[in-house]
Amino acid sequence: MSLVKAHDPVLLISEEGKRYLVFVQPDDSWYTNRGRLPYNDIIDQPYGRVAETHLGQKFLILRPTTSDLIQYLKRATQIVYPKDAARLVMELDLRDGKRIIEAGTGSGGLTLAFARAVAPSGHVYSYEVRPEHQRVARRNLEKLGLTPQVDLILRDAAEGFDQTDVDAVFLDAREAARYLPQAEAALTESGLFAALQPTVGQVSDVLRALEAGNFVEIRVEEILIRPWKPVPDRLRPADRMIAHTGYLIFARKIDARYRRFWMDKRDRKRAVQFGGKSKNIPPLKGGV
Ligand SMILES: C[S@@+](CC[C@H](N)C(=O)[O-])C[C@H]1O[C@@H](n2cnc3c(N)ncnc32)[C@H](O)[C@@H]1O
Repeated sequence: MSLVKAHDPVLLISEEGKRYLVFVQPDDSWYTNRGRLPYNDIIDQPYGRVAETHLGQKFLILRPTTSDLIQYLKRATQIVYPKDAARLVMELDLRDGKRIIEAGTGSGGLTLAFARAVAPSGHVYSYEVRPEHQRVARRNLEKLGLTPQVDLILRDAAEGFDQTDVDAVFLDAREAARYLPQAEAALTESGLFAALQPTVGQVSDVLRALEAGNFVEIRVEEILIRPWKPVPDRLRPADRMIAHTGYLIFARKIDARYRRFWMDKRDRKRAVQFGGKSKNIPPLKGGV
């Protein structure tokens, strides 16, 4: 049976469905306008039960998922939403042993998802320019016991990254396009790149920077999740959804000597796909 342990993060859900993330400290209490809930009432009790405040208000006690942690941890910045975080973990191929650089750290929401994905032997090198944001992220990661997997580095990404041969680089900072050369320098050959940008103009800037570098397999995506009302007799989509968070851009770094060759080939294919005549494109000269 899964018991709540002292210092664990716990998700409390009110009868109206409001969600709260707390860290249960022995001999302390959670104070709310719905009353006081002593943590000792929860510690060593199984998850999945209901606890009551001294005013009789009831809360369901659940173990938070990574998605809950991202959404309900303390925030100092906009965060990467779980739908985008999940896609990034998959497309950046993050798993045990991988090394990834991210900039900026922000509130550390995505950092925690990355750290969980690469644990126990991988590592996240997270760069942030604003100390007040880094402090919030550090506190969040400490509370979750994830600091062994993460180096928090206070530096502007424009100054470059200390690590080389990393498996992946992710940029979530304004004007990410400016940091493409730094990302490329840090990546291993065949390394995976991703960025999240909120507006299409910024996406175009990143695309131009990727085309100027040694990147291939360039893609742009937008993830939309349409929630449904889970009522069997009146099953239909919910009235509202989160319509926009950001655009995801993916690419892979390859050896500079092969990049021109590959892009020529891709342009040739694209011309045929879109009705052009491949003979209008000069033939490849001398292979690679
Ligand atoms: C939207 S937030 C990142 C949110 C983060 N991914 C999360 O999920 O919590 C962007 C962060 O990038 C930082 N930043 C902006 N420009 C930067 C730069 N040039 N180098 C490092 N960090 C930068 C900002 O201070 C901010 O904390």
